[in-house]
Parts: sequence; structure tokens; C-alpha cells
Amino acid sequence: MPQALALKANGRGVIHGIDTWCAEEEIKFASKEKQVKWLNKVNYEDIYQSFLSALEPHNLNEIIRIHRMTSTDAVSMFDVINILHIDGGHSEEISCQDVELYLPKVKKGEFIWFYDIRWASKARNILAFKCQLLKTVGMNNNCELYRKLY
Ligand SMILES: C[S@@+](CC[C@H](N)C(=O)[O-])C[C@H]1O[C@@H](n2cnc3c(N)ncnc32)[C@H](O)[C@@H]1O
Repeated sequence: MPQALALKANGRGVIHGIDTWCAEEEIKFASKEKQVKWLNKVNYEDIYQSFLSALEPHNLNEIIRIHRMTSTDAVSMFDVINILHIDGGHSEEISCQDVELYLPKVKKGEFIWFYDIRWASKARNILAFKCQLLKTVGMNNNCELYRKLY
């Protein structure tokens, strides 16, 4: 939301948010029963509605575009990305897929945020191959900022 407000103040730029807001996609790749049990308890509809309600007062409809779908289904909507923020499915399969599908669309020299990086060691390796790690931030150093080199 702070980035969207900054874009609004600058008078240009759009943020696309892609999220299924449903347990199904994560359950497909969950490796532990405990994880599946937890995912089944999450009220994704509630989270989605709270998110929409939090956006509403800021009048950001022109700037934030929400796509309630899988990252795989959404990818064809984008040609060029300036700043990519990955924080979707946490399995190795989905996190690697997100990097492989979306990193080629990021412009050379531009930025990639990867959240909960410790969950996704293989995805991190793919990123490290094509990008320079600029910064590690957040609780337990769980968020990394990269710059795309090639
Ligand atoms: C850890 S949450 C983070 C949500 C959001 N980025 C945030 O900061 O609040 C991960 C989200 O990714 C969604 N998700 C899981 N697999 C996905 C996929 N293949 N495509 C899109 N979203 C997915 C889940 O439904 C869940 O809402």
C-alpha cells in the first residue's frame, strides 16, 4: 500500500497483485500433514475481504489491480516488470516456478523482492544466478532484495 500511495503521488505507475486467496494451490504442494491441517483452517475469503476493505478508503483503484488467480495463469498478462515482489506459494515447486516465469519479465537493472526466502532454497539459487543480492531485511532476515544483472 505505501508503494501504491507513492505511485499515486507521482501520478504514474501500476501495481498488480496476484493471489489465489485459497488453500487449494498450497495444499497441492504441501509436504506435511500438519501443514495441510493448518491451511484448511485458514479463512482465505475473510483475508481477501479484509484486504479489499483496507484498500477501499485510499481510493487506489486506478493504481492497484487485483488478480485472484494463480501466478501461472496470470503471467501472460505481463510483458515488462520494473519491481517484482514474490510472496506466493511457499513450496519449492511454486516458488521456483514463480522465479522462472516472472524473472525473465523483469527489466535488466531493476529489482526483485523475495519474501520468506528461507523457505525457498532452490528459488533463491535461481535468483542468485541471474541477480545481485543487494539487501536482506525483515524479521529473521527473511526478505531479500535483488537487482537483475542479465
Ligand atoms: C504467505 S501468503 C502471502 C500473501 C501476501 N503476499 C501478503 O503479503 O499478505 C501466500 C499467498 O499465496 C497464495 N498462493 C499460493 N499458491 C499460489 C499460486 N500458485 N499462485 C498465486 N497465489 C498463490 C496463497 O493463497 C496465499 O494467500
